[in-house]
Amino acid sequence: MTTPPVDLQAVERARAILEAGGLVALPTETVYGLAADADNEAAVTATFEAKGRPKDHPLIVHVCGPEAIDAWAEDVPESARVLARAYWPGPLTLVLKKKPRCGLFVTGGQDTVALRCPSHPWAHALLKAFAGPTMKGLTAPSCNTFGRISPSCAEHVREDLGVKPEGKLDMILDGGPCEFGIESTMVNLSSGEPTILRHGVVTRAMLEETLGCPVPDAGSNAPRASGRLKSHYAPRTKLELVAPEALAERVAAWTQEGRTAAVMARASTLEALEALDAPVRLKLVSPETHLEYGARLYEALHELDHAGADRIFIEMPPEAPEWTAVHDRLGRAAA
Ligand code: TXA
Ligand code: MG
Repeated sequence: MTTPPVDLQAVERARAILEAGGLVALPTETVYGLAADADNEAAVTATFEAKGRPKDHPLIVHVCGPEAIDAWAEDVPESARVLARAYWPGPLTLVLKKKPRCGLFVTGGQDTVALRCPSHPWAHALLKAFAGPTMKGLTAPSCNTFGRISPSCAEHVREDLGVKPEGKLDMILDGGPCEFGIESTMVNLSSGEPTILRHGVVTRAMLEETLGCPVPDAGSNAPRASGRLKSHYAPRTKLELVAPEALAERVAAWTQEGRTAAVMARASTLEALEALDAPVRLKLVSPETHLEYGARLYEALHELDHAGADRIFIEMPPEAPEWTAVHDRLGRAAA
C-alpha cells in the first residue's frame, strides 16, 4: 500500500474548489472524507445532502495541526494537547467544547466540536494551504452514502458518490489507497474523564499509556455519533460472523440448500471449507495482523458485496485488545 507523491497542482485545484464552496473527496490515512469549508454553511449543508445523512449528526473538522485547536475549541484540557502532540498528524479525533466560531450546522446542534489533523500527505498539504491566518478547517465525514461502507480508495468514491454532473462531488483528489482503512479513534475530552467514542488504530492501551490514566468507553449518555449506530458500515448483502471452528460447516450447510456464499476466512479455514466441497462464489483470505486486517476490511467488504452471493460469511478474528476496532466495524456491518 503506497501513497503516491503529492500532486501539488491537484491539491491547488482542490483548495480553490473548497474555497469557492465546492465538495472534494479527500484522501486521508483512515478513509476518504467528503470535504467542505467548515466556515461555509451552504457547503457544509451540501455534504449532508450528498451523503443523505441526518442533519443532527455532527461532522469532524479537519485542521492543519495543534496550532488550530484554539481557533475551534475552548476550555481545552491539557490532556487534549498531550494527545494532539503525541498523535497528530494521525488517526485520532478529539471532541472538545466548541468556540462560537464553529457553527451549529457543523456540530449538529451540539456544543462540542470534533477535531482531527490527518497525516495523509495530500490531506496535510491541502489543509496547510487552506488554513490561512484564521486556521480554517474542512468538515469531512467519510465519503460514502449514509449507512454504507466507508471508502478506502478513490475507486469506491467514484462508484458511490461520484463526480458531477452524474455524481455529487466537484472533485475526487485521488491520493491512492488509505493506509489504515478504518476511521479514526475518537476521544471525548469535553467533560470529565476522557472516554472513547469510537475505536480505531490508536488503541485504548496507547491512549492510557500517553495520558497515564484509564480511558474507558463512553457510556450511553455519550454525544450522538452515527458511527455508534448499531447498524452502520453495512454491505447490501447480509453478513454473518462465524467462529473459526464453525465456519466450514456453516457455509457447507448453507450452500447445500442451493444458496450462494461469499467467504472471508483464514487460509487454514478455507482449506477446511474446500475439503467439504462447498461451492463458494468468492473466497478471500483474511489478513493475519490487526493493522493489515483494518487496512483491507472495507475493500474486502466491497468485494464480497459485489460477488452477488445470497450471504457473506466472515470468520471471527482473534479476541485480543488490539483487534477491538476491527470487531467493532465487523459487528456493525453484520447488524
Ligand atoms: O477517520 C475519520 O475520522 C474519517 C476521515 C474522513 O477523517 N471521518 C469520519 O467522519 O469517519 P464520519 O462523519 O463518518 O464519522 C465521524 C463520527 C460520526 O459518528 C459523528 O457523529 C461523530 O464522529 N462526531 C462528530 N462530531 C462529534 C461531536 N462533536 N461529538 C460526538 N461525536 C461526534
Ligand atoms: Mg462515516
